[in-house]
Amino acid sequence: MYKSANSPIMKSLLHTGLLAMVVVSTTLLLNRPVAAQTAPAASKPKTYMNIGRNATASEVAAWDIDVRPDFKGLPVGSGSVSQGQALWEQKCASCHGIFGESNEVFTPIAGGTTKDDMKTGRVASLTSDKQPQRTTLMKVPTVSTLWDYVYRAMPWNAPRTLTVDETYALVAFMLNLGEVVPDDFVLSNKNIAQVQAKMPNRNGMTQKHGMWTIKGVPDIKNTACMNNCAQHVAVGSVLPDYARNAHNNLAEQNREYGPYRGVDTTKPPLAAMPSSGMMMVSTASAAPKAAGPADLFKKENCSACHAPAARLVGPSIADVANKYKGVANAQAMLEKKVKAGGAGVWGAIPMPAQTQLSDADNKILVQWMLNGGK
Ligand code: HEC
Ligand code: HEC
Repeated sequence: MYKSANSPIMKSLLHTGLLAMVVVSTTLLLNRPVAAQTAPAASKPKTYMNIGRNATASEVAAWDIDVRPDFKGLPVGSGSVSQGQALWEQKCASCHGIFGESNEVFTPIAGGTTKDDMKTGRVASLTSDKQPQRTTLMKVPTVSTLWDYVYRAMPWNAPRTLTVDETYALVAFMLNLGEVVPDDFVLSNKNIAQVQAKMPNRNGMTQKHGMWTIKGVPDIKNTACMNNCAQHVAVGSVLPDYARNAHNNLAEQNREYGPYRGVDTTKPPLAAMPSSGMMMVSTASAAPKAAGPADLFKKENCSACHAPAARLVGPSIADVANKYKGVANAQAMLEKKVKAGGAGVWGAIPMPAQTQLSDADNKILVQWMLNGGK
């Protein structure tokens, strides 16, 4: 499996697992094979009162589209690299770039793999620092996953709209971008196993994380990063305007800890951001209601750039408190700075002017920061 825990392909696999469990548990509950589940619930209303109804065969079929690494579930079909190229330019290039190279919306699809990797089945650049960014083809060990994911989830703004043959063509094209298959290649259910034997990272799968076997012990000790961890993470992806809110507010769909949680897609990108390539956190709409300076700090979006102890875009609250300890006039001076914005004290990145802030709130926030966020 991927080394990168957050990859959407992995999420999609987990998803598949969950969905499969739902289907299975329905079956167990009713103690009948899936194929027999065509009768409507109304036929047995008394026995199964209040616990829903059988999934119909077509409902099961609609969810049951996963393609396994042994190609179970892969539909019959085919598509060529050149068909894939035409489709790609029409449906995918706007987000992923003509050559799958774009890192605007997501990490690049192709790049970072070599002919040697195809021989070893292990992508060498994964373990060197020379490759700036991990690409899909560097990571993915199984071509079935690529097929499954694209068919299930892409294009991002219109998932489940691709036909089987279109999916073959697109996968062929992406593999061609990585020179895994030649320009005149036609990918099909018949030759996909041969392609698997050439996947650059096919031997990169590990189960050492303990998550995929029942007896596995997941890595919950977190020994890798208990000190000297990276303090500043610059996220290099932005959503194009037209797709910004395509899946509702990302800020409300992500975990609620860590400095970067997902941009508030109900709002336009902040124009005055120091870097438009930076994903900003706003929990404003997710926060229940403002109470106390800590909530105000979030509500006013200060927390997008200032964290308690780590430097984000701006200095940490602790650093600000330290710097101005015992400095006369700090309160008034900083209130002015927050309102007007500016750069140069902590580095070259400017703080945008916080003109939306009332004087009363400004006072509360600066006081709170000078007090170390207490
Ligand atoms: C509107 C923008 C958009 C379009 C159009 C789009 N994608 Fe994507 N694609 C994304 C985003 C965003 C992700 C990451 C999704 C996530 O994090 O859940 C992604 C992820 C992927 C991945 C997974 C990469 C990985 O390493 O996990 C593949 C493969 C992919 N897209 C292929 C395609 C193909 C093929 C098409 C055209 C049919 C397409 N995409 C069209 C936005 C787009
Ligand atoms: C877009 C990012 C961003 C946002 C949002 C933001 N700040 Fe800042 N802030 C910065 C940066 C960058 C600096 C460092 C500026 C400098 O070097 O002069 C800074 C500096 C500060 C300082 C120290 C100023 C100094 O001169 O030492 C205070 C206090 C502060 N911010 C408070 C706030 C408050 C309160 C809010 C919310 C109302 C807020 N910031 C919102 C980026 C931001």
